[in-house]
Amino acid sequence: MLKAMSEISETRQRLISAATKITGTKGILAHPSETAGYFMDWRRRYKGEALAVVLPTSTEQVSELVRLCRSLGIAVVPQAGNTGMTGGAVPISDRPCVILNVSKLNRIREIDTLNNSVIVEAGCILATLRETSERAGKLFPMLLGSVGSCQVGGLVSTNAGGINVLRYGNMRDLVLGLEVVLPDGQIWNGLKVLRKDNSGYDLKQLFIGAEGTLGIVTAAALKLFPQPTNSGTAMVSVPSIEAAVDLLRLFSDGAGGKVEAFEIMSKGQLENVLAHHQESSPMPLCSPWYVLTELADSSTSWDPNELFEQILEVALERELIHDAVIASDSKKAERLWRLRHTISEANMRKGFSVANDTSVPISKISVFIEQVDERLKHEFKAAEVYYAGHVGDGNIHVIIVFDRAFYDTDEKRETAAARANFIVHEASVDLDGSISAEHGIGLMHIAELEHFKSAVDLRMMAQIKRAFDPDNLMNPGKVLGAAALMRFEA
Ligand code: FAD
Ligand code: LAC
Ligand code: ZN
Repeated sequence: MLKAMSEISETRQRLISAATKITGTKGILAHPSETAGYFMDWRRRYKGEALAVVLPTSTEQVSELVRLCRSLGIAVVPQAGNTGMTGGAVPISDRPCVILNVSKLNRIREIDTLNNSVIVEAGCILATLRETSERAGKLFPMLLGSVGSCQVGGLVSTNAGGINVLRYGNMRDLVLGLEVVLPDGQIWNGLKVLRKDNSGYDLKQLFIGAEGTLGIVTAAALKLFPQPTNSGTAMVSVPSIEAAVDLLRLFSDGAGGKVEAFEIMSKGQLENVLAHHQESSPMPLCSPWYVLTELADSSTSWDPNELFEQILEVALERELIHDAVIASDSKKAERLWRLRHTISEANMRKGFSVANDTSVPISKISVFIEQVDERLKHEFKAAEVYYAGHVGDGNIHVIIVFDRAFYDTDEKRETAAARANFIVHEASVDLDGSISAEHGIGLMHIAELEHFKSAVDLRMMAQIKRAFDPDNLMNPGKVLGAAALMRFEA
């Protein structure tokens, strides 16, 4: 035991002294007062340990650091904004590891407004990318509640979704090319800005959504879009989830490509966000479901509020809606969207909250919710169940907030969380859905991935992992656990 500890301490010293030569003293954090925030996830559910946090400022430094870690047998945990929802960036590993945080690798290298593309480094914060694109007269459409903290490397590696997937797709749809440092330290320059490229396997796709298990994304070439010049937001109360899905169809048919977002919240969820902000509701809280929707376009020859009124009138006739509020200006629209973007924050403060991230075909959303609701309410008496999410993607987050007074130990909470997750995952898989639509597997869903994926799926994944990272040095214990790797890689 003592020998093992002194070996770790020696490895740590060797790492720190060699890494300092690569990044300088500013690029390495080793004191607990500096590293604590990097060792825990945003939800504060997982906490790990690492020998140090390294903060490279160039792709070459990333490559040198990876080679160094490899030579010392140290695992590398890639980290960007550390806002991930499944513990993927937390340094929990069966061997000594280092966090390689890309936050200082954050330049926007090039914007090509004719090609509608931008090349940006992995540590660039999403809000900065969106603002810089806007100044160039363009839109980078990815938008989620963590916009002020999450970074391009994390967005690519989780294949993030957010509220605008309906119109622009998820991160995979926005990536044209990538630059990646491979587990052996080689730099792969795949930073193409092409819309068409069939020259062999599309290698970038492997790294998108790989959660740092196949290499470190150092830069990305991304798509840009025309900046909308005209937009409007409305909040609508609806009698049922079926009505919400029908309303989305009405909007898609009536407003064509202008539907920028169409998000839903259950009444309990809306009440909790309002309580968190100590705000009054923008509309009477008499319905079970609330939709927030945005119309936007770069043409000026239309009036968002007129279009809202036309569509909502038909919706009212068809009894798809109870009530509606159209934001009269951008400040009011922002206030409505703030309610949506702070859901996770509000839920985290309410109790021990477990947010699922399943998707089902849109046509099956209502039966999914009906089944899950019944089973969860039957099984957990001291918990509230909320729903919030992305109707257009079939990705409704089922959020269970466990009462801390009743579930008063970590063990009780974790057991309840595992059971609740299983119920939600089983219901989605039975309806041809997925256990993760946008947050990924990370640490949180490893067991369930093994349970719900077929042996053929798992074998292909293990073979890909082995081909890139035969020594399992890149984010070990994430996505596929060591046991699954051993079982399936042969
Ligand atoms: P991190 O948390 O640092 O890392 C996430 C994963 O990517 C980890 O596995 C990590 O190892 C890996 N990784 C990070 N950087 C790299 C790199 N350079 N190379 C290789 N691997 C890397 N997500 C959604 O999809 N939709 C939402 O609507 C949404 N809303 C959110 C709202 C809030 C308030 C919060 C806190 C989170 C939300 N998220 C959402 C989750 C989170 O913001 C996304 O998963 C985001 O993509 C994570 O980015 P990050 O930079 O914080 O990555
Ligand atoms: C959301 C995150 C939690 O949709 O995915 O708010
Ligand atoms: Zn979401």
